[in-house]
Amino acid sequence: MIKRFKIDHKIAGIVNKSTFFKTLNFIDKGDIQTPCLIIDSELIKKNALTIGKDIQDSSVFYAVKANPAKDILHLLDTLSVGFEISSEGELRVLRELNVNPDKIISSNPVKTITFLKSAYEYGLRYYAFDSIAEIDKLARYAPGSFVYLRLSVPNEGSEWPLSKKFGVEIEDAIILMQAALSKGLVPVGITFHVGSQCNNLYNWNIALDKTKILWEAAKMAGINLKIINIGGGYPVRYTRDVLTIQKIETNINTLIKERFPQGTIVHIEPGRVMVGEAGIFATSVTGKARRGYEDWLYIDVGVFNGLMESVGGIKYCFVSETHDGIGEEKSWVIAGPSCDSFDVIDKNILLREPQIGDMVLILSSGAYTVSYASEFNGCMIPNIYII
Ligand SMILES: Cc1ncc(COP(=O)(O)O)c(C=O)c1O
Repeated sequence: MIKRFKIDHKIAGIVNKSTFFKTLNFIDKGDIQTPCLIIDSELIKKNALTIGKDIQDSSVFYAVKANPAKDILHLLDTLSVGFEISSEGELRVLRELNVNPDKIISSNPVKTITFLKSAYEYGLRYYAFDSIAEIDKLARYAPGSFVYLRLSVPNEGSEWPLSKKFGVEIEDAIILMQAALSKGLVPVGITFHVGSQCNNLYNWNIALDKTKILWEAAKMAGINLKIINIGGGYPVRYTRDVLTIQKIETNINTLIKERFPQGTIVHIEPGRVMVGEAGIFATSVTGKARRGYEDWLYIDVGVFNGLMESVGGIKYCFVSETHDGIGEEKSWVIAGPSCDSFDVIDKNILLREPQIGDMVLILSSGAYTVSYASEFNGCMIPNIYII
């Protein structure tokens, strides 16, 4: 198997070679069934030790939604990484792992009452908010908690924007902070999200400009903040090279040092970057067809059982087996296993023609894949192997 996959010019600049060869070795040795997601724990460990390193006074809270596999959470817990959660389901897994509640925060600005009750009971004390309704809920079900306001910031240049659903402008923010204070909550900071898979350094600059204005306005209103939660957004290499963690963090660190008081605490909530490149999907070719002018390739993982983000604009890199140079490179429409026409992963993908039953690997698929997956049409959710 190792010999049948090559690192050619298309993937040389984007693939993590160690993860790639470890994955191939595992496929060779193991008796795996496709589709499955193979995760390189060493790369996650490396990411956990890198993220936050270049931002002074920072703490890292892994966004569990990216991939809630228990073994990943356990690994991160042992590496002293904290967790950002949004729901009872995410809390349940951390509870089962006995994660210290001091290491958990919730940045979903709209939480269910059931979640709030159990989170508070477990000991969580840090929550995001951006509405009066949420303040009322927090005051009732999480009294006295430390709260941070979700500010609206531009998401241009982010492949997975997150700006519409949450966040308020500066004028409303002050009113909300005062309302929180009057209800016995403790406003401690500001949070934003520049959009997931953000490859535009400038987004963080604008977000921190707005944060600075709000920080000063809060001070004038008698509210002294101490935390900036910069959310997630760090990108991974799907089909091209992207900003490095170091470049993003050096920039953020300089801006924070220039603009905010010494000792300002920074919270980082990486999801995609922590696990994305560590995961490789192993899939099998289930069919091929010529339809009009197009060549279609069918594989056993698709939009519903793992590649949901492909319909929102995330482009994956596919690698097919080579058979001693046999099979000419062609442009393919790649589709998943269900009967639904929505289950089309991508178009114009150049691949050497595979045979039915051949394996196709999908790089950088560790984040927002299996966590989104459903068993629609009876198609199996890929097993995860942590290696
Ligand atoms: C509040 C919050 N924090 C962190 C993240 C993680 O973002 P990313 O995966 O881009 O790092 C998300 C993603 O949706 C989020 O909503």
